[in-house]
Amino acid sequence: MRFDLERIDLHSPQRYAEEGFPWAEWDQLRREAPVFRYERDAIEPFWAVTRYADVMAVSENAKLFINGGPRLRMALKGEPELLRGGLDSFGQSRGWDPAEPPDITFMDDPRHRQTRKLSSWAFTQGCMRSAAAHFDTLAEGFTQEMMETLARDGECDFVAELAAKLPLAATGEIIGLAPGDWKQMLVWSNAIIGHVEPEHVLPGETVAQAAERNMSEMRGYLEALIHEHRQPGGGPSAFINRLVNGTVDGKPLNDQQLNSYLFLLIGAGNDTTRNATTGGAVALLENPAMRDLLCAKPELLESAVDEILRWTSPVISFMRTVTADTVLGGTPLREGDTVCVFYPSANRDDTVFEDPYRFDIRRNPNPHITFGFGAHFCLGTNLAKAELRSVMKALLPVLPKLELTGDHHRIANTHVSGYSKLGVRLAQ
Ligand code: HEM
Repeated sequence: MRFDLERIDLHSPQRYAEEGFPWAEWDQLRREAPVFRYERDAIEPFWAVTRYADVMAVSENAKLFINGGPRLRMALKGEPELLRGGLDSFGQSRGWDPAEPPDITFMDDPRHRQTRKLSSWAFTQGCMRSAAAHFDTLAEGFTQEMMETLARDGECDFVAELAAKLPLAATGEIIGLAPGDWKQMLVWSNAIIGHVEPEHVLPGETVAQAAERNMSEMRGYLEALIHEHRQPGGGPSAFINRLVNGTVDGKPLNDQQLNSYLFLLIGAGNDTTRNATTGGAVALLENPAMRDLLCAKPELLESAVDEILRWTSPVISFMRTVTADTVLGGTPLREGDTVCVFYPSANRDDTVFEDPYRFDIRRNPNPHITFGFGAHFCLGTNLAKAELRSVMKALLPVLPKLELTGDHHRIANTHVSGYSKLGVRLAQ
């Protein structure tokens, strides 16, 4: 099937909910117009970048393609960009500075590098190796809980019963949040991407109002934590103590900066890893040969995790602003233009990945760019991989007993997407 490129839809959240990722459209763009001027009534124009080499070229050159320009995430005309729509009511009530970048994803070097360093020590491979056994135990416990629900009810939602739990627990433990607060974190962090379950919308509230209220509640919770850790002697979390005492250009972060930092770490680690876990389970359940191979050869877990990451690519896109006239993939760009890189498209580029639409847990090498590349390369890469390893390891013995019910919903979002609900039942 061929598309009229002037009519394809890459920008409406509903499209991602109803039809999933625009794989066929991205394929055609990579073949015919890899740096494509995307102009639609509903959104300011941008250049859609779909080939692997061009996504890398943008990501590698953080001086020519900056994060701190006017656009970082796709937003429709008239709608505030996620996390940047001016100060929310909480920020206004605290007299926060509207010119402050909302978090490190909006910063460029040197400030970006310095601020990122205040937390990167907690996400190293070494830290994750130390946490692996504990993550395994947590994942086994959560899997056991899901199997008990299945035994009782016959079917359940894989997202709520399993995929959502380890990301919350792992981020919660690293940051030092009380286990009793993890569940509430899920409701709050969903609100960051505008997703609020009906039971969390109060009577008379719209979903948008409920999202705003939830985010304010989360900011209030973080504010109390920060104050607690500012006390002489610090608070119970080593991570927050270090963040509170850290400096950028010799100055400690203020309340607004600390609040936004924790807000990002909690938000960035939850829906992404949850979607990779759910998408990974779908891929294995829909490919019984790969499922059986992994069960027979658990030593393939490492390459299976990378293939799940390439296959699911939960972060769809990021935007950058061009700082000088240049040429990308043969297309001239002007200073001030916006480019939008599409990671899932780069991960299906057949000049890099042989037979890219084959899900193959043995794929090696697998240079996917699911975590981006360059200066802003995902800070939580090691954590996300450690979580996926643990949850897949725990799932292996039960996977052959599960099947999809066909009842699923996808998230309406152009930045991070995947399943908000996935029905599973015990195989007949
Ligand atoms: C499967 C799970 C995940 C995926 C697919 C993912 C993907 C990404 C991507 C594509 C970026 C932007 C990279 C770029 O601009 O080059 C990013 C940035 C980031 N991610 Fe992740 N991520 C995941 C899990 C996590 C986790 C568990 C955390 C926990 C802390 C995290 C924290 C961050 C942060 C803080 C940034 C901003 C880094 C910066 O701007 O310097 N992510 N992630």
